[in-house]
Amino acid sequence: MSDTPTDALLNDYSRRFQRSQELYATARTIFPNGVTHDARYLEPFPPYVREARGAYKWTVEGHRLIDWWSGHGALMLGHSPEPVVRAVQEQMERGTHPGASHELELRWGQLVQELVPSAERIRFTSSGTEATMMALRLARMYTGRPRVLKFLGHFHGWNDFLIQGADPPFDEPVPGLLDGVREGVVCIPPGDLELVETTLRANPDIGCVILEPTGGHYGLIPCDAEFVRGLRRVTERQGVLLIMDEVITGFRVHPGGAQGRFGVKPDLSTFAKILAGGLPGGCVAGRKEIVDLLAFGNASGQKMPHPGTFNANPLSASAGIATLELVMDGRAQEHANAIAARLRIRLNRLFRDLRVPWVAYGAYSDFYLYPKYGVPPTGDDVRWPEGATWLDLATAVDRHTRFLFRVACLMEGVDLPGLRGMANAAHTEDDVEFTVAAVGAALERLRGVVWSPAAAVPS
Ligand SMILES: Cc1ncc(COP(=O)(O)O)c(C=O)c1O
Repeated sequence: MSDTPTDALLNDYSRRFQRSQELYATARTIFPNGVTHDARYLEPFPPYVREARGAYKWTVEGHRLIDWWSGHGALMLGHSPEPVVRAVQEQMERGTHPGASHELELRWGQLVQELVPSAERIRFTSSGTEATMMALRLARMYTGRPRVLKFLGHFHGWNDFLIQGADPPFDEPVPGLLDGVREGVVCIPPGDLELVETTLRANPDIGCVILEPTGGHYGLIPCDAEFVRGLRRVTERQGVLLIMDEVITGFRVHPGGAQGRFGVKPDLSTFAKILAGGLPGGCVAGRKEIVDLLAFGNASGQKMPHPGTFNANPLSASAGIATLELVMDGRAQEHANAIAARLRIRLNRLFRDLRVPWVAYGAYSDFYLYPKYGVPPTGDDVRWPEGATWLDLATAVDRHTRFLFRVACLMEGVDLPGLRGMANAAHTEDDVEFTVAAVGAALERLRGVVWSPAAAVPS
């Protein structure tokens, strides 16, 4: 009996990535599922990467992959840009942890102040999750109100208070949380300002609203500037703090983050990823009187404790400074935005040519593939798939499709973090063309497996 297309694909994948498969067998004896981040889990096994430069990474077998992960969003300049590598190497020679204040943290903090007007004061953390955790605690202390309002499908790290409602199934409680923590969070669907206002009115114990300003999961569920501006007005009217989680949008959609692009001033913001130039690091930035609740002897008479061994560590500071200095003129962001737009347009033309009932959509430097569009796309650059609700977008991609599509793309030399990706300043138009051809070949292999040609192309 002959192999099914899925068997044939997986057999080819095992042969081409044989060393990765061997490493994964060992990894499964060390880590749950053999991985160190949920998003890196892939069936039957993930590729192992040995080296990365610019827009590319090379697997342990020596295969070059065009990389659309962009370091989970941490790499605005691609892999290992020379000035960043040099800055880290030089700092390495001088010490990795002085256990003391150091000059680099000043320059790093000043760059954030320069780029982000709302950053009157800053505190560095070691990750984005720590930053959102800090922002919520500061908000509770400042307002004296315990609860937070967040949006379904918005992701803020694995913070106990914000993991609820981040991913489907939205009506199931995230296991392992204290009931009291769960009760401290109010989750509502995104995009409805009236609902925000009525929820705030009905729950006077809510002290802050947090959001991803370009939409849940960076834009999987897009959110426009008008919504964010409206949210600023509503939160001001209701006397509630607005926290913009710019862990992924910060320094990416604009040198000043989404707030710089939209002209909105939040009370607090969280940053990480690009902030630390590809190394671990995050921060909370915002109004002086709120962030100063971290200061000894502050006017409130209460101090938020905040130790943290790796806060503002000098290696992250050196990478962060080198990166922020390179992205502050906005050219890197413009390039990445243009590359992603070109890729979305080219993919939509490909879907039309092959009669694939999928659509590529997004804004800024991201792209998402919505596989339940039903017809090939008629538009080129699509902001929001017509007819889809926010819930459709949040739940569209099943594991089977995601895994097989990624494996099929890896076979063609392209690594996509699922049916999505993120461009950076190192990607070129040739990379876009290579990727479109790769996606075309992957879809041909998966015809009848994860998609079937639409009956007719709408004119
Ligand atoms: C919007 C947003 N907030 C918070 C986080 C958590 O950051 P970290 O992974 O550094 O803990 C992420 C990570 O992807 C994110 O995208």
